[in-house]
Amino acid sequence: MPINFYEDTRTFKLDTPNSTYSFFVTEEGLLYHTYYGKFVPDTDLICLANIKSDFTTGRVSNSGLGALAKFRFEYVPYNTGDWGEPSVIVADKNGNPTTDFYYVGHRIYAGKEPLAALPATFSAEEGDVSSLEIYLEDKLTGLKITLKYSVFEKLDAITRSVLLENMGQDTLVVRRALSSNIDLANGSYDMIALHGDWARESFMERLPIRHGNQAVSSCEGKTSHATNNFYAVCDSDATETHGNVYGSCLVYSGNFVSGVGLGCSEYPRMYTGINPVGFSWELGASDTFQTPEAILVYSSEGIGGMSRTFHDVIRTHIIRSPWKHRCRPVLINNWEATYFDFNTEKLLSIARQAKDAGIEMFVLDDGWFGCRNDDSNSLGDWFVFEEKFPGGFGHLVDEINKLGMKFGLWFEPEMISPNSELYRAHPDWCLHVKGRDGHLGRRQLVLDYSRKEVRDHIYAQMHKLLSTANIEYVKWDHNRSWTEVGNEIEGYHSQGSIAHKMMLGVYDIMNRLVTDFPNLILENCAGGGGRFDAGMLYYSPQIWASDDSDAIMRLSIQHGLSLCYPCMSMGSHVSICPNHQTGRYTPIETRCAVALPGAFGYELDLTKVSDAEKAMIPDQIELYKKYNDLTREGDYFRLANPTDSDKYSAWQFVSKDKSEALVELVSVLYRPSVPNVTLKLRGLDPEAVYADDNGNKYSGALLMNAGIVANGSWGDFKAQILHFTKCE
Ligand code: DGJ
Repeated sequence: MPINFYEDTRTFKLDTPNSTYSFFVTEEGLLYHTYYGKFVPDTDLICLANIKSDFTTGRVSNSGLGALAKFRFEYVPYNTGDWGEPSVIVADKNGNPTTDFYYVGHRIYAGKEPLAALPATFSAEEGDVSSLEIYLEDKLTGLKITLKYSVFEKLDAITRSVLLENMGQDTLVVRRALSSNIDLANGSYDMIALHGDWARESFMERLPIRHGNQAVSSCEGKTSHATNNFYAVCDSDATETHGNVYGSCLVYSGNFVSGVGLGCSEYPRMYTGINPVGFSWELGASDTFQTPEAILVYSSEGIGGMSRTFHDVIRTHIIRSPWKHRCRPVLINNWEATYFDFNTEKLLSIARQAKDAGIEMFVLDDGWFGCRNDDSNSLGDWFVFEEKFPGGFGHLVDEINKLGMKFGLWFEPEMISPNSELYRAHPDWCLHVKGRDGHLGRRQLVLDYSRKEVRDHIYAQMHKLLSTANIEYVKWDHNRSWTEVGNEIEGYHSQGSIAHKMMLGVYDIMNRLVTDFPNLILENCAGGGGRFDAGMLYYSPQIWASDDSDAIMRLSIQHGLSLCYPCMSMGSHVSICPNHQTGRYTPIETRCAVALPGAFGYELDLTKVSDAEKAMIPDQIELYKKYNDLTREGDYFRLANPTDSDKYSAWQFVSKDKSEALVELVSVLYRPSVPNVTLKLRGLDPEAVYADDNGNKYSGALLMNAGIVANGSWGDFKAQILHFTKCE
């Protein structure tokens, strides 16, 4: 059993194949963390217990003020002597926010139970997950806290979440309830996180951890373009291939905080959960509150090891779509081809050319509903724009299906335009604060998804459309951040609950959608990659990674995302040049190479592409299909970081059985008289012999130790794809 409780030392020990996580119950009944890191055998439990001596174990016996700050709580209470980042703040009936809780019991069981109303990791086959629940109680208020842990048998991953339960008579108000905190051993660490903005999301940033508090967070109602709820803490000398790395991501898509605090104790405290800024939740007698789940990954083999574990967890235990292990159809999306300016004939001419090139699905983006010719109107009116599609788009869908192509459709279900039939009928259905002006973003307001009647109305329209036309794919967009989060329904203490209730509402509709239409390919999107997270991947196997379709910008965007998310979850398209976001010209081969490992497609007007480029598309599609098993299911290695230089980026996939590898290299700016790049491959069988597609043979050891010289081609933005198969 990977989870054990040792009575003699009152120690809990959670083991994955290569990591150990442990904590113990003090004599007073407090829960203290002892260790998270590389695996240690049970015979060393006594040493783990000795780690206790490094910090305060008793409250009553405390002498000297300084000692108080040395607690290493497994879940940190507030206002009882630990002055680091608290995990939980709950106001009692007098408004006092002290939390203080003691161990009362635990349960260890095989498998994993779902979390109410929230996306979460799941067991994929019998015996692959074990779970632990620790019960804590605050005697004064009657607050019961259940710390939930799950341990994956084959992966170095542990999940944590927390359930709060009011067992008392008086109403409590939760002001902060994080999902996880861990006090790491003292040492020298860096924090890795993602930052960006619209069209330049997910750039990796690595900074040394200093004393104080450093965190990434969002209050935008979504994970955001500005950052991501994935982050990692690593040894300051950790690289892609060596060093201790602790990764964390939330299975959540709303407001969050993820950070690390370093105080006088010198134990860096990693923490993550719902952002307490603006948050409050009224907990009446018998009420419960479930936090989102945090996925924690430990790697002793550097940052690359952490990423590969996250990819496996997300592929196997987060994404539910039946498409996750299937090669997804190559699509063409009309957004960058037409924007709002189209009619049936124009769309069909693009679709016909796409069919000739071997593209399998046509996706109709924005502009097909209400009376939408620009972004000023109609969100909420999910019926077909008659002027563009007289008699509905049955004709368009039929024609596309007749071509042998699938049809997909864009929605933005969480938004409302002030100029819409819906707004005129229900002006109070948007988020608003009475007496305050509402802010528009992209000329639209946000629907109040905390209200069931609002969700039901939108979903009924979507359901009707999806039931009447043969729509096999939906792109679910979300184009503005939330402001004026409020309504007149929630009371004084519950206004701060609306943002989380909104998120639960979004999950409710996504769940209905994928339950009612189980074969639908759902692609999430939020003005590009504004909501790229494990919460969304629970419903959709792919997310549009960025509105920036420029191949060179995509190098950094996809590199950053790959720290946590598998490439197969990143929507990636080949678009036209000059690129609409950057004005850059790149060869179509490079655009294809960069998009190839993702959920691949095209986003351009094929009627405007040169014959020479068009002629290359069938080969590109063949390439995508040929390598899709490998890029979808294989292990991923970052060989060069594009954000480090303007020279080149390189990455590699290796099949799980090490029989096949694909290497991609994209040079950025060409420089004369600079030596060619030597790429040292990773993850191969050193004993095996591999052949490239020209029949040249190399040992795995040579490819990994000496590397291969990638011939630099003259010119900027050139891509090379190298493929190796193991010889029998
Ligand atoms: C933002 C998305 O990211 C784009 O791909 C496109 O769907 C537009 N919205 C449509 O308005």
